[in-house]
Amino acid sequence: MKKPGNATDPLWYKDAVLYELHVRAFFDSNNDGIGDLPGLIQKLDYLQDLGVTCLWLLPFFPSPLKDDGYDISDYLNVHPMYGTIEDFKTFLDAAHDRGLQVMIELVMNHTSDQHAWFERARQAPKGTPERDYYVWSDSDQKYGNARIIFTDTEKSNWTWDPVAQAYFWHRFFSHQPDLNYDNPRVVEEMFQVVRYWLDLGVDALRVDAIPYLIEREGTSCENLPETHLLVKRLRQEIDANYESRMILAEANQWPSDVRPYFGEGDECHMAFHFPLMPRIYMALRQEDRLPITDIMAQTPEIPGTCQWALFLRNHDELTLEMVTNDERDYMYLAYSGDSRMRVNLGIRRRLATLVDNNRRRIELLNSLLFSFPGTPVLYYGDEIGMGDNIYLGDRNGVRTPMQWTADRNAGFSRASPARLYSPVIMDPILGYEAVNVEAQQGDPSSLLGWMRNMIALRKLFRVFGRSTLEFLHPSNRKVLAYLRRDDEQSVLCVANLSRFAQPVDLELPELEGAIPIEMLGYVDFPPIGKQPYRGCATYKVRSSSFLFLWI
Ligand code: GLC
Ligand code: CA
Repeated sequence: MKKPGNATDPLWYKDAVLYELHVRAFFDSNNDGIGDLPGLIQKLDYLQDLGVTCLWLLPFFPSPLKDDGYDISDYLNVHPMYGTIEDFKTFLDAAHDRGLQVMIELVMNHTSDQHAWFERARQAPKGTPERDYYVWSDSDQKYGNARIIFTDTEKSNWTWDPVAQAYFWHRFFSHQPDLNYDNPRVVEEMFQVVRYWLDLGVDALRVDAIPYLIEREGTSCENLPETHLLVKRLRQEIDANYESRMILAEANQWPSDVRPYFGEGDECHMAFHFPLMPRIYMALRQEDRLPITDIMAQTPEIPGTCQWALFLRNHDELTLEMVTNDERDYMYLAYSGDSRMRVNLGIRRRLATLVDNNRRRIELLNSLLFSFPGTPVLYYGDEIGMGDNIYLGDRNGVRTPMQWTADRNAGFSRASPARLYSPVIMDPILGYEAVNVEAQQGDPSSLLGWMRNMIALRKLFRVFGRSTLEFLHPSNRKVLAYLRRDDEQSVLCVANLSRFAQPVDLELPELEGAIPIEMLGYVDFPPIGKQPYRGCATYKVRSSSFLFLWI
């Protein structure tokens, strides 16, 4: 008997709106300065009211927290700072009761160097299965074609271990040894982790750092055929035992390299579209649709049961790995005037600060996010336009406490401010006194109110999550126009990427006779005739704006 999931439709993730949050940053129930699971439970009403449908929790497992929990020391438990496994079950039930799905992290590629497996491995004799839980070498020259990812902190993918008297392999921090998936015991161990959480009822797993699972000499050690075989086995394991679950690939790669992670519908259900994200920002700054249409032209078709995950920002830097050198230079120049805004190959800022807190641009970018083919993923705090703190190290500047009220500690915690895991944002414009949930809930024209409407609109029209994308080709390249349609509905989306109002003529011969309705205000637009459609130019394509027409 397969174990049912909470969602009834097995393709639930296609219509989902994901909300990414860190338990630590959300709400502190016991006033020790650190957000926790009971605190998150208290805020489920807020999330339900916002309208998001699936909560993505960043790692909450026991960990020395040198990489914010992506350095796991026990996969089968909860970090005591955040609560207990019972608290997690209570949270999961409470979320499910509200019809919300829950996605957690499956950090398969590496563990913390404080995991018991690593302690055992470094002491075990060479050649034993215990030792071979990790990837060891006598030389640090092996797999020399693999790039370094955390270029700011790491000089090599090998680190000498004095206990083992050998080098161990790590694609990320040197305290994060990579697991060795050539060892069948490691595979079985990780499948047990998967079963543990899916048995509890978790709906989805984000498979962290999926391209790096297996390494081979003479290759980049990314996206290897052996890695895909392993992902297929993972999927079989899930499909054989569970219903309505989903796995999402974190593969920061070009679209053609991400495509195989969907397999023939037999690998991951979803994958993030990494290259699209920086190009949305590029198109906005260049006031030119080309970066977007270009990357979409390079995006292959995916199997019918699969879906892209789209995002504007997340807990990491705005990564510039999947752009050309020229494009990276441009992005640095355009979006990170201060070098403190940069980390590794990317920009560590939030959505609001990236667009100079320009409300229209925030709305424009979110409109694109919500109408492009895929499932939108929101990053906590961006729905109210929270700011960041570039004086905090690594990526911590975008991981500050959620801003609930204008009270002490942003209403996040009643601990002494010095005790908070991170200072709250205190900037005069984007700090918690100006930007917080409570104030925006009382203001019908707030960004939060707008986001709530946008989420509701998206959920009302299945066409957004499930249909094709066709670009129109108006001569004015500052305008990005596209149709989303299925058998029943068509939506025409028109984005003005420019700071100024723009004229545009849209050729819509197949839709002649239709009467579009503007979807936010239910306003009838002039019928589409034989001439190019100008309704938009006349009525709405003002600067940095977006128009949804239901046809
Ligand atoms: C993923 C996470 C990132 C983490 C890295 C190493 O890329 O998104 O936050 O640092 O994996 O675990
Ligand atoms: Ca706490």
